[in-house]
Formats: sequence, C-alpha cells, structure tokens
Amino acid sequence: MYKIAVIPGDGTGPEVTAEAVKVLRAAADKFNFKVDLTAFDFGAERYKRTGETLPDSAVEELRKFDAILLGAIGHPDVPPGILEKGILLKLRFALDQYINLRPVKLYPGVETPLKDKGPEDIDYVVVRENTGDLYTGTGGFTMKGTPNEVAVQSAVYNRFQVDRCLKYAFEYARKYGKKTRGKGDKNTLALCGKTNVLTFIYDLWERAFNEMGQAEYPDIEKEYYHVDATCMWMVKNPEWFDVIVTGNMFGDIITDLGAITQGGMGIAAGANINPEGVSMFEPIGGSAPKYTGKGVINPLAAICAMQMMLETLGEERAAKKAEEAVMFVTANKLKSLSAGKMGYSTGEVGDLVAEQVAK
Ligand code: IPM
Ligand code: MN
Repeated sequence: MYKIAVIPGDGTGPEVTAEAVKVLRAAADKFNFKVDLTAFDFGAERYKRTGETLPDSAVEELRKFDAILLGAIGHPDVPPGILEKGILLKLRFALDQYINLRPVKLYPGVETPLKDKGPEDIDYVVVRENTGDLYTGTGGFTMKGTPNEVAVQSAVYNRFQVDRCLKYAFEYARKYGKKTRGKGDKNTLALCGKTNVLTFIYDLWERAFNEMGQAEYPDIEKEYYHVDATCMWMVKNPEWFDVIVTGNMFGDIITDLGAITQGGMGIAAGANINPEGVSMFEPIGGSAPKYTGKGVINPLAAICAMQMMLETLGEERAAKKAEEAVMFVTANKLKSLSAGKMGYSTGEVGDLVAEQVAK
C-alpha cells in the first residue's frame, strides 16, 4: 500500500493529474498493489482566497507520504514567482529533493523538430541538481529604484551538494546507462558546465566529478561539455548523450531544449527525488492557462511523471508496463502531441493508456 499525496495545482494541472491517477489505478489493479490518495489544494485558488501559498504544516504532513504527484503550479492572476517560489521550489528545498531527473526520450510515432533523428538517437537522461545554484535566492538590491541600482544574484554550491548529486548520477549511469540497457558499448556520464567562465562553481564540480569518477566509478566513461556546446550537440548529435549531470540553472534550461526534441511539453516529465526521503513527480510543462478546462491538453507528460513515480517506488513491472502503454498510444493512436490536435480528448488519451496497462 502506497500513500500518495496529490497536488493537482493550477490551470490544466487538475485535468492531467486526473488522467495520471486513472492510469495509476489501472496499474495498481493489474500489478496487485494498493494506493491511498490524499488530495491537497495548494495553488493559485487557495492563495487568492487565503493569501497563503503553503501552510506551515504542509511540509511536515507531506513528509509522511511515500510520494507526491504534482500537476502544475502558476496562474496568470498571480505575479510570477509567488506560487513557483512559495510552493514548487519550497517543496523541492524543504523536502531536500536534491535530484531533478529528466529523461529525454523520443517515443515512437512522436514528431521531433530535429531533422533525420528518431527514437534511436534521442534517448538520454539529464540529472539536474535541484537545491543549489542561482535557485537559493542568495542576493539582493542596493539603491533600488535609483539610476544607480545594483542587483546581485549568486550561484551557490557546496561540496556536499555537488558530491551527493554526482554520486546519484554515477550510480544512475551504472544502473541505467546505454551499456547496461544494451544500447551501446559503455555507460557514460557527461558533466555539463562552464569551466571557462564560471571558474569557481564549475571548477568545484569538475574536480569533484573527476575525483569521484576515478576513485569509485572507473567503469563509467566521463565526458565534459560546456553548457553552450551541450545545447548545440543536443540538437545536432543527441545520440552522443547517455547521462548528463549539471547544476540547477543549466539543468533548467537544457531540459526545456531536451523536452522540445522529444515532442514537447505534452510528453516531458520529471522527478524531484530525495533518495532518502519523499520524492515529487511532475510534468515539466506549466499550467497552460489558455487550454484550461477545455479537455484538450495532453495528459501524457503527467502520466509519464506517474510512471517515474512507479519506478521510484520500486514497482518496476508496473512502471515498464505504463511506459509501454504510452509508447503504444504515441505509435498507434495520437495524431499529434499538441493540445487540441491529438485526435482525442484529454480523458480519452488517459483511457487509451489505462486500457493498455490493464491488458
Ligand atoms: C521547472 C520550472 C521551474 C524551475 C519554475 C516553474 C520555478 O521551470 O521545473 O523547470 O525553474 O525549476
Ligand atoms: Mn524549467
């Protein structure tokens, strides 16, 4: 029995979360496990009503769950930053979800904007550090509002944060890299940084990366790419990549690029992981206000996030089946992954995946 906290959130979040839950229930029936779901109303509506983003008790309460399934956070009526910082980032930090795992995998039948590339070429994972960097909020203004105003925002990392993220990434490469999966002759971990300019932060990352790799992971091939070059190769030669590890800010940016190469926000999912605690699973795309309530949004990203949850909970057979079901639907059913162009409604796409899982 798994206790799952569900935070549908804003915009299209509730619609896509309902489909993820539909598929979760189908998987639970099929693979004989139970789920006990508890919904939380954190998001814009609650904020507008009460002025509160996350109540003080929320973090302690959420700690008691086995996992958290999140829809989307963000609303056009609320200024940018309030809900994102007050809910999403707060949970990532408070629950110490120090890994943001984002697979970039092109499923069969899905159109990619990359010319002449297919599912064989676009199949890698980004391990984004999720608690440090420019996201710590370290900084401030002086002389605000004057012509001499100064704004500073600092990238912050300590060795402990870097080491624990690298350890996760090396372990991940060993367990799920291309060699292990029979897709190549080696497992490779690439560090994505900017050692030529960010000569403190990425010097630390690179030293830690090389030390750990040499001492503990001699079986894993190590590569280094600057972040700008990473973007270039993600477009030109995505087949080069296996597992990429990077800091929080670069990870945020390159995973949107990765997402569009795998078919966009309709399919891209991520996991905020605390390997020793409670993890949170979410579609990468936002709340898509203009599609809210129309039943046209693609729920596959939320379903894929739920699939990552199954994997993390240790329900590996159910996870594999859910992924195969999504792949069947992209290959044989959907006309497009874009909202309103799928050839099916949001609920029908959920039904198609759930039916496949039940088979
Ligand atoms: C993401 C999002 C968030 C981030 C925003 C909404 C705070 O872009 O999950 O990638 O920057 O991490
Ligand atoms: Mn992002």
